Amino acid sequence: MAQLKWVVAALSACFTVAASLSPSSAPNVNYTELAQQLSSSASIYLPGSDAFDDVVSRWSNLSVPVANIVVVPGTKEDVVKIVTFANEHSVPFLAANGFHGSVTTLGKMTHGIEIYLSQLSTVEIAQDGKTAKIGGGIRAKNLTDALTTEVTGACECVGYLGPGLGGGHGWLQGHHGLVSDQYLSFNIVLANGSLTTIDETSDLFWGLKGAGHNFGIVTSVTSKVYDVQYPNYAIETIFFSGDKVEEVYELANELWITNGTSPEGVNNWSYWYFDPTIDPEKPVIVMYIIQEGRDTVDPVHTAPFHQLGPIMSQPKSGTYRDLAAWTGISLADGPCQKTGNANPRFPIYLKAYNPQSQKQIYELFREATTSPGTPFAGSLFMFEGYAMQGVQALADDASAFAYRANNLLVAPLLVYPPGEALNAEARALGNRMRQVLFEGSGQATLNTYVNYAYGDETPAAWYGGDAWRQERLAALKKKYDPTGRFSFYAPIA
Ligand SMILES: Cc1cc2nc3c(=O)[nH]c(=O)nc-3n(C[C@H](O)[C@H](O)[C@H](O)COP(=O)(O)OP(=O)(O)OC[C@H]3O[C@@H](n4cnc5c(N)ncnc54)[C@H](O)[C@@H]3O)c2cc1C
Ligand SMILES: *[C@@H]1O[C@H](CO)[C@@H](O)[C@H](O)[C@H]1NC(C)=O
Ligand SMILES: *[C@@H]1O[C@H](CO)[C@@H](O)[C@H](O)[C@H]1NC(C)=O
Ligand SMILES: *[C@@H]1O[C@H](CO)[C@@H](O)[C@H](O)[C@H]1NC(C)=O
Ligand SMILES: *[C@@H]1O[C@H](CO)[C@@H](O)[C@H](O)[C@H]1NC(C)=O
Ligand SMILES: *[C@@H]1O[C@H](CO)[C@@H](O)[C@H](O)[C@H]1NC(C)=O
Ligand SMILES: *[C@@H]1O[C@H](CO)[C@@H](O)[C@H](O)[C@H]1NC(C)=O
Repeated sequence: MAQLKWVVAALSACFTVAASLSPSSAPNVNYTELAQQLSSSASIYLPGSDAFDDVVSRWSNLSVPVANIVVVPGTKEDVVKIVTFANEHSVPFLAANGFHGSVTTLGKMTHGIEIYLSQLSTVEIAQDGKTAKIGGGIRAKNLTDALTTEVTGACECVGYLGPGLGGGHGWLQGHHGLVSDQYLSFNIVLANGSLTTIDETSDLFWGLKGAGHNFGIVTSVTSKVYDVQYPNYAIETIFFSGDKVEEVYELANELWITNGTSPEGVNNWSYWYFDPTIDPEKPVIVMYIIQEGRDTVDPVHTAPFHQLGPIMSQPKSGTYRDLAAWTGISLADGPCQKTGNANPRFPIYLKAYNPQSQKQIYELFREATTSPGTPFAGSLFMFEGYAMQGVQALADDASAFAYRANNLLVAPLLVYPPGEALNAEARALGNRMRQVLFEGSGQATLNTYVNYAYGDETPAAWYGGDAWRQERLAALKKKYDPTGRFSFYAPIA
């Protein structure tokens, strides 16, 4: 039986929960019956406890899923029991791990069970050191800490499967491809509660790598891992005044796209944000140029930027493990904290920069972040140029991830205290910025990263507009999740 340690006066409190469920939400569900079926390492958290509050609050406090009870499985068999119980009682459920999922479709969950996967976090490295079996509830940082080998990923506080099931971008993708490109097999609990292994012999294997949130709860995954190739990494962070927005991105295009000199060991990002200590009037452009296997970035990649006259430039050296801190996404940094703010993004994949569009969105962003009394001052515009060789080494139809041909992942991240009026303002502003980028891109369809999506895009934008993709995904959904049990996170149509 599950430990009800978080539940003061355990069992009677369970009844309170059951009684407090809204009428539409399966009245009189007796969770004691579920607790009795679970392993001794499982836990149940009830509303009113700190443990409950901690694991239902999310990084982005916008259109959040609502749970009446949190169950923490101790084993994969517990996940089977929870899903089966939920099905018997027609109660919705949602897996949770890093709490960074922010797509607004999550808000369609208005009651039910949160299945918090934190205890499924073991890592077993195969004897030959080439693969590892990784628990479905591990977080990215715990995984890099557990491995002496490399595994691809970038941010420390997010889950590992949450990103991976949607494709998964990371620092090593120039060499090895996406996070999901490394997966060899999944242990997964399907919508009907059956625990099964999905590998390349199954039709579902393709769908789990890019649209995976739609099909089940992964209890563990077996992934390729690699010997560390380069112990050292260098970064140069170059700050530009917003006046130079067109020049900076014209140069980025010329260097990285037109001239095509983008070695697989180099990643280049830029952020825009308002930091009055650097520029009291307008957001600064911060360019991160990262190179592996070196203690300083090769001047071939940085000298042309220096010629544009930056405000300042900061070189640093370290290892793969320092990258998250350098780019502001380590455990200690803002993006890893739950602040109560809404943090929607409005992503678009691009092939190249359009300097005129960059100038236009810079003006919109400047106004949004610096006008007097603005609630959006803490926002961030992200331009992620991961190396793409490893991603593009696979055929376009290799998995359900649809956007291998793109070079850049761009998104404004609007940070503000949520409320009805501001939610509407943010949504309009974010979509307006994205529309400028879309129109300037010359692309025919809106291409987005599902894991950054706002939530008002279409399945075609999340999973690729090709008819064959939509048909293949719809057929898998019909076969594996016909009643839409896994349809809170960017559901397939
Ligand atoms: C600061 C920050 C940094 C990020 N960095 C990256 C990055 O480097 N690369 C990248 O690709 N993306 C990145 N993202 C986006 C990230 O992919 C998504 O936010 C993702 O949803 C986070 O997953 P999570 O486990 O943290 O969140 P959760 O909200 O806990 O989970 C997200 C979704 O995944 C489902 N899920 C989680 N675990 C499982 C499982 N084991 N089986 C089945 N379903 C599961 C949940 O049910 C939920 O629907 C980042 C986001 C933020 C906010
Ligand atoms: C809930 O289930 C437990 C275990 O079967 C049982 O002892 C208890 O009486 C049930 N409670 C209610 C209110 O039915
Ligand atoms: C995961 O990492 C965090 C932070 O480094 C640590 O506090 C926690 O104990 C780790 N969890 C596991 C299961 O190792
Ligand atoms: C791009 O290539 C052209 C032709 O080789 C060269 O003249 C130009 O200097 C290169 N641009 C940059 C920024 O290196
Ligand atoms: C930098 O970003 C571009 C997109 O602007 C991308 O194509 C390229 O692979 C990245 N890396 C390098 C070294 O330029
Ligand atoms: C989340 O936002 C709501 C308003 O939408 C607010 O009432 C609530 O306090 C916020 N949560 C946190 C943890 O700040
Ligand atoms: C559960 O669904 C899968 C996939 O459709 C199917 O193969 C399996 O037989 C089902 N199991 C049960 C017990 O119905």
